[in-house]
Amino acid sequence: MLIRGMAHPGLELLTTTRAVRRRLDLTRPVPRDLLLRCVDVAQQAPTAGNSQGWRFVLVDDPDQRRRLAEIYREAGLGLLEDGLATAADDQTRRVYESAIYLAHRLEDVPVHVIPLIVGRPDSWGPEFVAGVYANILPATWSFMLAARSLGLGTCWTTSTLARQEDVAEVLGLPDDVTQVGLIPTAYFTGSSFSPARRPPPDLIVSWDRWSFDAPS
Ligand SMILES: Cc1cc2nc3c(=O)[nH]c(=O)nc-3n(C[C@H](O)[C@H](O)[C@H](O)COP(=O)(O)O)c2cc1C
Repeated sequence: MLIRGMAHPGLELLTTTRAVRRRLDLTRPVPRDLLLRCVDVAQQAPTAGNSQGWRFVLVDDPDQRRRLAEIYREAGLGLLEDGLATAADDQTRRVYESAIYLAHRLEDVPVHVIPLIVGRPDSWGPEFVAGVYANILPATWSFMLAARSLGLGTCWTTSTLARQEDVAEVLGLPDDVTQVGLIPTAYFTGSSFSPARRPPPDLIVSWDRWSFDAPS
């Protein structure tokens, strides 16, 4: 595959690891060993001072998934429906339609992955908040890339973050860990994915200093 003139298997992985919702196979259980392989890859991600404070709660129990799915819908479905109603273009409309589809079936997705980082951003100064999240977000994306490589589809979701206390209660989380989302994970159906359409990179790049219009 050629991506902006470059052919490389790593680039293909990076450009075709998409938000998978309608193509999640809700009928096929995911072996725990396969998920542990993905976590093994995730642990290769960077962390500040090599702190490795990441934790992953992997939820495959149907009752736990149902409880998380209810929280997800209570927290996020209204926002997704608002997003669909106000979508400005076809690509955005398709994203919201697909997100609503997933929300209604979340309990049927075989695994809910909850990535966590030990620590709370609010216990650090504002200048360290990005660092706290950077200790877990690259690892989470690595989990998703590994999953894609092994035949699993994933989708980054954050709807549950508006109801973190409820998620913490369901999962028995201690107070001093930070949630960053819920990653529905399942085998994907079909065999290939295509890169999404994006604007040319020079529209979002400036050289040596900021030369964009002020953000509106
Ligand atoms: C911070 C963040 C929050 C997101 N929240 C949700 C969500 O709550 N529900 C959902 O279905 N998708 C969610 N997504 C997935 C995005 O909709 C998706 O990554 C984006 O539309 C690109 O989709 P594509 O891979 O199909 O091009 C989220 C992604 C990010 C990075």
